[in-house]
Amino acid sequence: MSASFAHFDWIAPVYDALVFVVFGRRLNRAQAVFLDRIPPGASVLIVGGGTGWLLEPLLTDGRAARIVYLESSARMLARASCRMLNRQLMGTVEFRLGDERSLRSDERFDLLMTPFVLDLFTTETLQTLFIPRLRSALKENGLWLITDFIRTSVWWQRALLWSMIRFFILTARIEARHLADWQRLLSEAGLTLRERSPQVGGFVSTEVWSV
Ligand SMILES: C[S@@+](CC[C@H](N)C(=O)[O-])C[C@H]1O[C@@H](n2cnc3c(N)ncnc32)[C@H](O)[C@@H]1O
Repeated sequence: MSASFAHFDWIAPVYDALVFVVFGRRLNRAQAVFLDRIPPGASVLIVGGGTGWLLEPLLTDGRAARIVYLESSARMLARASCRMLNRQLMGTVEFRLGDERSLRSDERFDLLMTPFVLDLFTTETLQTLFIPRLRSALKENGLWLITDFIRTSVWWQRALLWSMIRFFILTARIEARHLADWQRLLSEAGLTLRERSPQVGGFVSTEVWSV
């Protein structure tokens, strides 16, 4: 089994517009909440960054000494690198097509980011593949910044989540059939929650975890 089940190539050209129609800029703002926790000079791994808007604040801020941008969709990756070229912000970004298995076994980062990525996978994939592989790519005392949907009891959030999962099953063949309890899985994998900021009326959580 592979954690790179999803195929966002088809939806890449319209992804940002769709997100904007449903959420405005709120999902972007949620991802930026803890960017100031990036230690100066840090090596940063972004997994599943999509079309790359997150690179702009990161590069402008200049804290990260090295950024690896790991994306499994070639079209998402192309859009991210074009965006940086257009803004003359290439800096120290290494654009890498692939998934967590593309990381070299000796690669270690100070900080990694998974913005709206954990929600793509089943509990089993997160537990046996995705979380262990990424955890092993973190240095001792490394930080993992996560922004993602969480399970709530609010009816409209549950309905929207259900619809989004169905939509991405059809358009991107994501593996998840419902939202895994990723907070529990991170905790079971030995990670510790350091900070948490509820976003979008509690529908999204931005969190800092450490090894
Ligand atoms: C739901 S989109 C989120 C995009 C972006 N983070 C955002 O919030 O706009 C998920 C992204 O993760 C990428 N992806 C999915 N599985 C991946 C994996 N195993 N490794 C790297 N990227 C992956 C997809 O290609 C897609 O661009």
